[in-house]
Amino acid sequence: MEPLNNNNRGFSSNLGAILAATGGAIGLGNIWRFPYTVGQNGGGAFIIMYIVFVFLLGVPVMMSEIIIGRRSQQNVVGAFRVLAPKHKGWMGVGFLGIAAAFIIYAFYSVVAGWTLNYIVLSSSGQLTGKSPIEISQLFVTFTQGSFLPLVYQFLFFALTASIIILGVQKGIEKYTKILMPILFFLMILLCVRSLTLSGAKEGLDFIFKPDFSKINGSSVLDALGQALFSLSIGMGALITYGSYIRKEDNLFTTSLWIAGADTFIAILAGVAIFPAVFAFGLSPAAGPSLVYEVLPNVFNSMPGGRFFAILFFVLLTIAALTSTISLLEVLVLWAVEELHWSRRKAAIILSFVVFVIGAFCTFSFGLLSNLKIFGLTIFGLCDKLTATYMMPIGALLFTLFIGWYLPKTEVYDELSNSGQLKARYFKIFYFIIRYIAPIALTIILLTGIFS
Ligand code: PFF
Repeated sequence: MEPLNNNNRGFSSNLGAILAATGGAIGLGNIWRFPYTVGQNGGGAFIIMYIVFVFLLGVPVMMSEIIIGRRSQQNVVGAFRVLAPKHKGWMGVGFLGIAAAFIIYAFYSVVAGWTLNYIVLSSSGQLTGKSPIEISQLFVTFTQGSFLPLVYQFLFFALTASIIILGVQKGIEKYTKILMPILFFLMILLCVRSLTLSGAKEGLDFIFKPDFSKINGSSVLDALGQALFSLSIGMGALITYGSYIRKEDNLFTTSLWIAGADTFIAILAGVAIFPAVFAFGLSPAAGPSLVYEVLPNVFNSMPGGRFFAILFFVLLTIAALTSTISLLEVLVLWAVEELHWSRRKAAIILSFVVFVIGAFCTFSFGLLSNLKIFGLTIFGLCDKLTATYMMPIGALLFTLFIGWYLPKTEVYDELSNSGQLKARYFKIFYFIIRYIAPIALTIILLTGIFS
């Protein structure tokens, strides 16, 4: 099939593409989820395993998704219709992506909303001078009360939708170009603060001195789930953004930049958080509340703490926002191309639909906290369903599509920009996509299902 050429549909430059996709990848997953997952899995050894997964599996799967998007110039569902016109069943993979985007956005926006509240709390001084117990109580009272979290969650939906309505270049690309450098700068400031605390070394040892005895079956699963979640792989975000990448851009280097930047920021988040946590004798294994219950104590005990607390929650909000933008864009592009809605109508209606599901995720911390499905709250179920099942299944199907369905010549054509690039890595890439990635993903999926 001739590659379609339509450079006006998407990003105006390679840098724009890298920043937007990196913005989608870097999010709560890096700054909220990564540090607590590292904390629960014993530190350095987990990080090494994580990095191996990112580059050995994550990058090739990411490239596969981007190939599907750029080759087809379509949304997640349309992409499979265009690339597999005789086998409509593949469109089901696209619908799986749409479903995953709905669910991820629903629970993700809960935590994103909390973060907005913590900007308000930290800047108005309501966290300052509080004891650890008071800070925990504040978190629990806030998350259990249904109204306020819902308001902040709603604000986050409104913020995301208003950028999406502006379009790909004037909204997504423009804002990620502004927000990502700010995010990076804030992160460096926080790292400097954390590293200059006395007692920081213990935290650094925790991150960088691997203790391989801490690795077991479940930490391997956690590392892979975290890698997929963090790189936004397996649900079509990269098909969508891939369809916006210019035909002359190099997909291999673009993917390496995205994965490299995502991993770098996750590790910097660890460097910003753990030395501070250790310096003040707190536990790194606090779990999901690490950022909201533990860090405020850290900020309270350090010079300039209030200022750094505000910086931190602003940083977290920016990271979350560039990710919710990529989540909503998956849904919006689908509605625009498949249902022929206007971008504005799609952004508003779809945000409301996700808000309704998201409200249940918010209520699962308060009103509905006793409602357990398979032993999990609604929020926990959405997280588990997507990170442990839907994203690995999506990733597996994408690799099968590129490795076994699409003709090899087409895959090569897309990666080499129709022969203009050498793509010397192609053999290794193709081997990983055909054999290693599907086998590894299947093993991981089965272990996830039966453990
Ligand atoms: N990668 C994002 C993070 O690490 O926070 C999460 C995410 C965003 C997953 C967008 C999937 C997605 F489409």
